[in-house]
Amino acid sequence: MSDSSSGSGSRQDMSDSSSDSGSRQDMSDSSSEQTEALLEEGLAALAAATDLAGLDAARARHLGKRSELALLQRSLGELEPEQRREVGQRINAVRTELAEAEATRRAALEVERDRVELAREALDVTLPPREPRRGSLHPVAETMEAMLDILVGLGYQVTEGPEVETDWFNFDALNTPPDHPARSLQDTIYVQPLEAEAPEDDPETGTGVLLRSQTSPMQIRTMLERQPPLYVAVPGRVFRADTADATHLPMFHQIEGLSLDADLSFADLKGSLEVAAKALLGDVPLRFRPHYFPFTEPSCELDAWYGGRWMELLGAGMVHPAVIAAGGHDPEQVRGFAWGMGVDRMAMLRHGVTDLRLFVENDLRFLSSL
Ligand code: DAH
Repeated sequence: MSDSSSGSGSRQDMSDSSSDSGSRQDMSDSSSEQTEALLEEGLAALAAATDLAGLDAARARHLGKRSELALLQRSLGELEPEQRREVGQRINAVRTELAEAEATRRAALEVERDRVELAREALDVTLPPREPRRGSLHPVAETMEAMLDILVGLGYQVTEGPEVETDWFNFDALNTPPDHPARSLQDTIYVQPLEAEAPEDDPETGTGVLLRSQTSPMQIRTMLERQPPLYVAVPGRVFRADTADATHLPMFHQIEGLSLDADLSFADLKGSLEVAAKALLGDVPLRFRPHYFPFTEPSCELDAWYGGRWMELLGAGMVHPAVIAAGGHDPEQVRGFAWGMGVDRMAMLRHGVTDLRLFVENDLRFLSSL
């Protein structure tokens, strides 16, 4: 009857014997014993909790609404008023003691949790920083900038133009006849097919729209927009219907130069280009070779002795009177010289690259300074 280890058992006993006062005394004794046992059990369980979740569970079990202590408290009504007060007070005292023990244990476990958490989040501020990876200009961009620096030093203004052009700007205005092979689909990439019947004299329409095959159309655009004296350098991408190989890409880079002034001569062309070429390559041997371009007369090419061989640097010439006229100026009043330089092959030489395709394959070594 006085099994104090089981709350529900005791309660059963109590209700069974609620009719006589002798057993009420026993019940009071057994309740006290049970209270002390619950105190001990509770204290042990709270002390044994190793983390906050365990402590929550122990609290629910020993202090919660459905704990044996709570059940015992609810059964107080079955005792004599005198005993009820005594046992009730004791239960309250036990409850308070357990709650205090729980609070103390909780504080300790929280300190421990914070310690572990802080240790986990700790940063070692004495660790050396990771070296950022340093990038560099792409070899083509580097070559472009080197050349433009020199041209700016010579008094040229840098300007850029559209990559999509009408054939009027790319060919007609540059004195290139309608049957010139460069216009063919095999050489030029068209965005809008050629319309044989379309009028040729509207620059903005032309007879077809294409990806510019050269930066030369910018000669016309600048002449139409500005008055001489005119000294402009035009860097940019150009496109041709070529299959990529070690020395060809369907997209590559040029820098166009145009000088238009009152009395420019072929001597100015030679002098300017010699100065620019030597600034770029050092004091290397240079040679001018006669050549043909529709938009210049006379025309030439400039070669430099570089990397153990003659390397073609650029095409050049005195701007053809028809081109000056197409640009809206009077060929009797102004003269000029122009040139176009391929940047990618120059970049190959400057950087010891043997295959143009490497420039467009995104190998990170081309963009790192290492
Ligand atoms: N546009 C020519 C080409 O792509 C290069 C060139 C030659 C440009 C002579 C010029 C020039 O301005 O005068 O091959």
